[in-house]
Amino acid sequence: MDLATAARKINDTGYGYIASWALLTACEQRLFDRLPAAAEELCDTYPDPGLVDTWLHVLAEEGLVEQIDGVWHLADSMERLLVGDNSYADYLGGQVLQQMTPRLTLGLAGENVLAEVLTDPDRRTGYEGWFADAEEAQAYQASQYAGSLGPAKAIATSLTDPDDRVLDLGGGWGAIARSIVKHHDVDVDVVDLDVVIESAPPVDDRVSFVAGSALDPTSWPTDTDGVRYDGTVLSYLFSSIPGDTHEALLDALTERDMRWIAIHDFMVGGGSHAAAWSLQHAVFVPKHRSRSVDEVSSMLADRGFEVDAASSVIDEMTTLVVGHR
Ligand SMILES: C[S@@+](CC[C@H](N)C(=O)[O-])C[C@H]1O[C@@H](n2cnc3c(N)ncnc32)[C@H](O)[C@@H]1O
Repeated sequence: MDLATAARKINDTGYGYIASWALLTACEQRLFDRLPAAAEELCDTYPDPGLVDTWLHVLAEEGLVEQIDGVWHLADSMERLLVGDNSYADYLGGQVLQQMTPRLTLGLAGENVLAEVLTDPDRRTGYEGWFADAEEAQAYQASQYAGSLGPAKAIATSLTDPDDRVLDLGGGWGAIARSIVKHHDVDVDVVDLDVVIESAPPVDDRVSFVAGSALDPTSWPTDTDGVRYDGTVLSYLFSSIPGDTHEALLDALTERDMRWIAIHDFMVGGGSHAAAWSLQHAVFVPKHRSRSVDEVSSMLADRGFEVDAASSVIDEMTTLVVGHR
């Protein structure tokens, strides 16, 4: 690599936070719902049009908006993603800006959270610690639900004909469960933490919510009701629980006669945002481990599952690995 390329790479990475923050703020402010507009037309909320233009020129450099005759427009196709309720902008301006960034960057007292976690990894308290505040849990899940609707469809359609009840461990408010019901006409049980289940809105008669823990198989309906499952979905669960519990979790699922296990997550080698999102979880999940597609596939193969070729779900970010037996 020549010196100029090295400098450009450093600058792209080092200054990337500026464009990111400009976008997340626009999402939080629901700015895109108000375009097309000239900066002067936004004066009721933003009294300095010059400042607004500077903000939007950053997004124009990223190809998200464009200025035509002084009027700011969203670039092609952006409107479908960034405008309206339950849009991607809701997720970026909600969970990502309000909840995720303070867990990685500057915390409540302005401290560098990443630096502190690196020197004191034991301070991490995981989702249980985070969701001790029920309002935080609810805000997170509302945003997660919206953010998972797209991947949910991709995951549901990738499953090859589930023919009986499905277990969705760490399923949140059931975005994926609901999509599985829709595409495969089977019932789905979602197991998640108490505080998540208590606030889950009714999404579908065929989706049941069960308070429990992925780390405690005795809390799954299999143990209490003699329920048999065809297969199980773990979407972002490996990123959300300690890495040293992954093997035992797969053992427990294997013992319960699952015909298939679908693991959807940020996986090493799955794209530039995969590594970034692993870090975003690693700063608050105790003993978090990043796993590659090969590692996850071997874990399934070691338990007698035949593993399909991995598929990308969110471009450069998430991967789906499914094992059958
Ligand atoms: C990133 S969210 C993913 C939610 C959902 N699976 C999806 O794909 O949209 C991680 C989920 O794991 C849940 N979770 C974390 N630790 C858990 C545990 N020990 N048992 C069950 N669920 C857990 C969280 O409450 C949260 O709903």
